Amino acid sequence: MLSKLRVVKAARPVLCSSQRLACISTWANVPQGPPDAILGITEAFKKDNDPQKMNLGVGAYRDDQGKPFVLSCVRKAEKALLEQNLDKEYLGILGLADFTKGAKILAFGENSRVVKENLVSSTQTISGTGALRIGGAFLQRFYPHGKKIYLPTPTWGNHIPIFKDSGLEVAHYRYFDKATIGLDINGMLSDIKAMPKNSIVLLHACAHNPTGVDPTKEQWHEISEAVKAGGHFAFFDMAYQGFASGDINKDAYALRYFAEQGHPVALCQSFAKNMGMYGERIGAFSIVCESSQQKEAVDSQLKILVRPLYSNPPLNGARIVSSVLNDKALYSQWLGEVKTMADRIISMRTQLKKNLQDLGSSKQWDHITNQIGMFCFSGLTPEQVEKLRSDHHIYLTKDGRISMAGISSHNVKYLAESIHLVTK
Ligand SMILES: Cc1ncc(COP(=O)(O)O)c(C=O)c1O
Repeated sequence: MLSKLRVVKAARPVLCSSQRLACISTWANVPQGPPDAILGITEAFKKDNDPQKMNLGVGAYRDDQGKPFVLSCVRKAEKALLEQNLDKEYLGILGLADFTKGAKILAFGENSRVVKENLVSSTQTISGTGALRIGGAFLQRFYPHGKKIYLPTPTWGNHIPIFKDSGLEVAHYRYFDKATIGLDINGMLSDIKAMPKNSIVLLHACAHNPTGVDPTKEQWHEISEAVKAGGHFAFFDMAYQGFASGDINKDAYALRYFAEQGHPVALCQSFAKNMGMYGERIGAFSIVCESSQQKEAVDSQLKILVRPLYSNPPLNGARIVSSVLNDKALYSQWLGEVKTMADRIISMRTQLKKNLQDLGSSKQWDHITNQIGMFCFSGLTPEQVEKLRSDHHIYLTKDGRISMAGISSHNVKYLAESIHLVTK
């Protein structure tokens, strides 16, 4: 046996140097890509040895000690699941049914007609990004009125490559007004009105990323009317339900209003932020249909899309979120915990603004407390952002977006002092 093995080993071909060169040259025309803008910031932050350094780039919640936060309801659900000694069989192609059912009710509300009448086709996805990607691919394959999607300017950076890679053409509508650091509602409405009939319009349901600027209820009504008048299709990205205001119902207002108004919406959900499930990659993509027959057909086509991509979604995160959404005690604990997270962010906004005012900053900082969600679109220029990094060891994206989760009661004063120095 041993001698046989030796023979086999000896018979293995040795690559000559010309063959090795051939392997290398196969990939010689692969160009070096740029690093990811946000992960690049974390890399630079890690290399900085200053004890006061701050990472305000990445959008992941931290507690007041600057530590990642695992929700107690999630820990309890995990423990209970472990004790049940469950198997690890494959899920169905569209995922865990109890999870998608819970996710639909959470988004559209208990009294939603479309949920009660079972008109919403849903699939479990690889978090919010996966939901957007499946949604993009579904529209590319089946949307009958064109292959272009309109995104707000600015939008979450990943939206653009997600939809381009889904085979859609990307266009933009006005959203943010630099002069007021607020919503450009007139620009937004006139761009929606000017779109070709039946266009696809992406809307951030709440906590717009990166600006933190959301329409008011009245503005959502106007947007709904404009979308309806153009026969457009509303594609909602809801990555922060509950995380924005601390109230899951308030944050779902726009989506629910559109559904009540009879818009046949699509929806992407993520449980990364509101349940702290970042690395578990758990989300959902849903489409409101007009009949149960349509829903069946959409379900079948979602399966056909998913099967060759990843066959079926992962089990663990779905089980945890499903336990939290479907167990009364865990659910009410979650509502409390999501509010705690949102309240901490809101209190950091108040403290940052107050510290800047106490330092005698002559600049207008009302937008810090007017904005909502994970991010503050500070209005800092790229030069000021660079100065924060080089002189104060504070890291944020070039567009002046501050991840509020990186601020704590221990470093808010230092941040305010540093911002004051670079904006004087
Ligand atoms: C607007 C928006 N949509 C979707 C996502 C998707 O996040 P994930 O894939 O982690 O759920 C994010 C995350 O930052 C986001 O900000």
